[in-house]
Amino acid sequence: MMKILITGGAGFVGANLAIYFAKKGYQVISMDNLSRRGSENALPRLKKNKITFVHGDIRNKEDFLHHHLPTDINVILNTAAEPSAISGYQNPEFVIQTNTIGTLNVLEFARRINSSVIQWSTNKVYCGEKINSIKRKEKKTRYIITDENYKQGIPETFSIDGGDHSIYGLSKIMGDMMCQEYSKAFNIKTVINRFSCLCGPYQWGKCAQGWYAWWAIASYFKLPLHYIGWKGKQVRDVLHIDDVAELIDLEIENIHKVNGEVFNIGGGPKFTMSLIEATEYLKNEHGYETCLGQIEESRKADHCVYVSDIRKAKRILGWKPKINPEESFDKIISWIKKDEATLKHIYAHK
Ligand SMILES: NC(=O)c1ccc[n+]([C@@H]2O[C@H](COP(=O)([O-])OP(=O)(O)OC[C@H]3O[C@@H](n4cnc5c(N)ncnc54)[C@H](O)[C@@H]3O)[C@@H](O)[C@H]2O)c1
Repeated sequence: MMKILITGGAGFVGANLAIYFAKKGYQVISMDNLSRRGSENALPRLKKNKITFVHGDIRNKEDFLHHHLPTDINVILNTAAEPSAISGYQNPEFVIQTNTIGTLNVLEFARRINSSVIQWSTNKVYCGEKINSIKRKEKKTRYIITDENYKQGIPETFSIDGGDHSIYGLSKIMGDMMCQEYSKAFNIKTVINRFSCLCGPYQWGKCAQGWYAWWAIASYFKLPLHYIGWKGKQVRDVLHIDDVAELIDLEIENIHKVNGEVFNIGGGPKFTMSLIEATEYLKNEHGYETCLGQIEESRKADHCVYVSDIRKAKRILGWKPKINPEESFDKIISWIKKDEATLKHIYAHK
């Protein structure tokens, strides 16, 4: 039977994937240090789906030994991270320890037990200044890219050089490159996915990370929201977690074919949303009057328009996303209504 270890396995991505693969009949072990507020709520869902939970920290290599993790794990999904771009500036050492050294520990464990690794990388490996220098035009609700070379989005060949990725981006590039290198150096199989904006139910979004769910949660509970730079016209491609699960399933099935590959993964050019459009959708379709404050200054290294060129994943794996951003909002809203009491408790202090 296929055995999967998911680091960060109580987080938004990790828990959703754990349940997806458990339902497929795989044996799943979720490892998490529960540092993300909200992740503790995944534990009953994991238990219900017969997923083994291990309280562990990827920064500590001993945690891979102490817990007597099985040595016949086929693949590790490394989703554990400090995923906020803001915390990197507040505490770079912590973020690099978690995202970079943590990934090194995962790779070393994988090497020891001869497991494959699928790595959660990010669009933040691409330098902000370079992304923002691509020609664009301002429209009523969004910026649009006018440079023909990037009409299909940002490809994997885009330069990662420069000094404007955010500390989070830096910590992830190092993990990303280590995964590429370990595939060549040590004959373990790795796949690197550079995800843009992921969303879906059970994403405990906050202003600093997980903006899509945060926008829906804050609108629902009438919490204050701000456009952070770009007049709310910044654009992201948006990918629902169910489409992520299908991609990872294909990567596991085709691990020999995709060993060492890097993929830019997101909703792609068809599934994009600006902040203004998100606000309008929640108002027009769901009747939520978003409580918008002053526009704040844009964050360091922030991208104005980021859309993934997802053609490589389509070409090699036949994968493409199915759930559009509007449907994703509808699914998130249904979850908020179902889990209103838990969410109220978590967001009460905001
Ligand atoms: N959500 C997005 O839009 C997005 C976009 C691009 C990339 N990513 C990447 O996807 C991955 C998953 O993100 P997410 O949205 O599920 O975030 P999340 O915060 O919901 O999940 C991460 C989980 O990792 C756990 N964790 C943190 N530090 C740990 C440590 N040292 N040891 C063990 N567990 C630890 C947290 O408690 C949390 O449960 C991350 O690697 C992130 O960088 C996310």
